[in-house]
Order: sequence, then C-alpha cells, then structure tokens
Amino acid sequence: MARTRTATSSPERSVEGHPGSDSSITTARQSPDSTRGSQPPMFGGLSGSRRHVLDLDDFSREEIEHILQSADGMNEVLSRDVRKTPTLRGKTILTLFYENSTRTRVSFEQAGKVLGADVINVTASASSVAKGESLLNTVRTLEAMKIDVLVIRHPHSGAPYFVASHIEAGVVNAGDGTHAHPTQSLLDLYTMRRHLGGIAGRKVAIIGDLHFSRVARSDVWGLRKMGAEVVVCGPPTLLPYGLRPGTNGDTRQTENSTFTGVRVVDRVEEALEGADVVMALRIQRERQDSGNLPDLREYSRLYGITADRLAIANSGALLMHPGPMNEGIEISSDVAHGAQAVIEEQVSNGVAIRMAVLYMLCARSRNGE
Ligand code: CP
Repeated sequence: MARTRTATSSPERSVEGHPGSDSSITTARQSPDSTRGSQPPMFGGLSGSRRHVLDLDDFSREEIEHILQSADGMNEVLSRDVRKTPTLRGKTILTLFYENSTRTRVSFEQAGKVLGADVINVTASASSVAKGESLLNTVRTLEAMKIDVLVIRHPHSGAPYFVASHIEAGVVNAGDGTHAHPTQSLLDLYTMRRHLGGIAGRKVAIIGDLHFSRVARSDVWGLRKMGAEVVVCGPPTLLPYGLRPGTNGDTRQTENSTFTGVRVVDRVEEALEGADVVMALRIQRERQDSGNLPDLREYSRLYGITADRLAIANSGALLMHPGPMNEGIEISSDVAHGAQAVIEEQVSNGVAIRMAVLYMLCARSRNGE
C-alpha cells in the first residue's frame, strides 16, 4: 500500500466565529452558541463527564475521534494571524513538571495562552519540592491558589492518578515514568490521520526501546482503539516483559495487557515491510541504569532507522519520532530531516491537540459539572 505525505482527508474547517469571539472555537457538528448549554456538544456529551486525561486506556474510539476533530478547529485558530481567543478566559492552567521537557511543557503553555487561559509553570527543581515538600502537599498547595487544570509530568508511573484522586482540578498526565503519555499519543494519531486519511487498517511499526517508553504504551492503546495493525521490534532486553522471548509461549503475544494483539518480530526489516508509519523511539539513556542496553553502537547497527531501512516500508511511509531524538543512534540524521519525516509536524500538532484537551476539561468546569 503506497502512501503519500499529502493529506488525503480534508480536515473539517470547524472554526466558526472570529478572533475575539467566545464562540470562536467549535466543531462543524455544532453551532457556536451550543457550547454554552449544560452539556458541551463539542464532544457529543462525552467530555462532560471526563475530569482527567491520564491515559488512553479509558477512552473510547468515539471520544478519541472527537478530540481529533476538535484539533482540526484548533489548528485553524493557530493558522490565523492573531492566534488568540478568549475561550478559556478566567481559567487557570498550571503545569507542574518533575522531569525535563521542551515539547510537552511549552505546547501546553502555548495551548492555554492561545485559548485565553492564565498559564502558570512550576518546575519541581525550582520549587519547594527541592526543600522536601511531598507531591501531595505540593499539589494541595497549588490547588489552594485556584486552578482549573493541572498538567503534571512525574518520573514515577501512577503519580498523576494519585494526584487526580486528591484534588478537584482536572489532571492531565504529561508523562509518568514508563507508564503513559496520552497527549503524545493523541498528537501522533492526529498526525497519522491528517496524512493517511484514516488509521484503521494501517500498519504502524514501532521500533526501539519499548520497555521504558510511555509514548509506546499510550500509542499502542490509541492505535488499537483506532483499528491499526501494530508491529513492534527492539532488543529483547528493551521489550516489555510480556513480549520478551520465552516469556509468553510460542505466540509471543501478551494477553489482557497494553500489548494485547500487538505483533512482535525479531528483525527490524520484517517490522518495516509494508509499514505505513515507522515510529522510532528514543533510547532513554536516563533510564538505562539497569544495564538493559550494553552498547549504543550495536543498538544503532541492528535497530537504527536509516534510509536503507526506511526504503523497506511502503513508499511514502511516514517517519515519526516523539522527540527528543538521539540522531545517529535510533534514527539517522538524513531520514530524521528527510522528505518522509513528520517529526516537526508532530510538534506543531501537539499544540492543537493540547488545546483540544484543555478545552474539553475546562468545558466541564465551565458547565458547572
Ligand atoms: N515527546 C516529549 O514528551 O518531549 P518532551 O520531553 O520534550 O516534552
């Protein structure tokens, strides 16, 4: 199946109204004023009950579709000369990052500001966390200053769930340990959909450090829900436990887990054959203390995405990477900046997706739910 990088779908032009109008963000499914009803019809009523975005495992396909459609409208706002609407005026979004970030933190800030919200950024290392304040006391302190949405990144898997169970504000997981990164998955799905026209039935090859990758886990949830075929490949020591040779019988497929139905193959060339999307994962050097990856050059030789390897995939296959990239290790520089790469577009789409997510959560509080 040959794919081109040109969008085959025509994204719904879903923004009505004009800059400065409170109704300037909506979707083609609704009239601007309908956002003021008791249910936010933008998400077909689904978003009215969603308080948090912690992973995609509890999202329906329909809910994911609604967010992707909403992001089309947000992208239209971002394409204007004046990228500003008062849609979330009076709302306060707080980003709390216990780990470094460029894309996620800045795009949430950009998303909130474009929507007219006040955005406050807290870096744990520059806060009273450095004096020993606990996570619970930190988020309770921040909530006491009146916030509507807390965006949190934390090195411990599950931390956003803990926070969500202790505060009233909506919580967005901006990456927790090796567990989940749901807005990265949404922006990945959105980028694929814009180029491929649809995700169902497409083959997506995810290559590399799946063991430590929260992006891969959330992507797998999202891709499975949208009907994609997912094939993964990486060094046995960097595969999730259930996918390692000898850990799950002959089929090497996990049951009842994130990776249920995902095919694992030994050779990267096999994973790439017929792929519509090639996603190279970052080697997470900061999480390799356990010795899972003894040699970077060996890794690069066996699993790095090069021009020769990319040529095995379908003609025009999309090359994706969540960033930040280790160029020359999991991806060669020529393909990372080549014609098939949509890596910078992933970053751009991250703003639109995070606008859609913030809008969804704030719409709930706006309607007094
Ligand atoms: N993809 C991603 O989460 O990048 P950052 O660490 O820069 O936010």
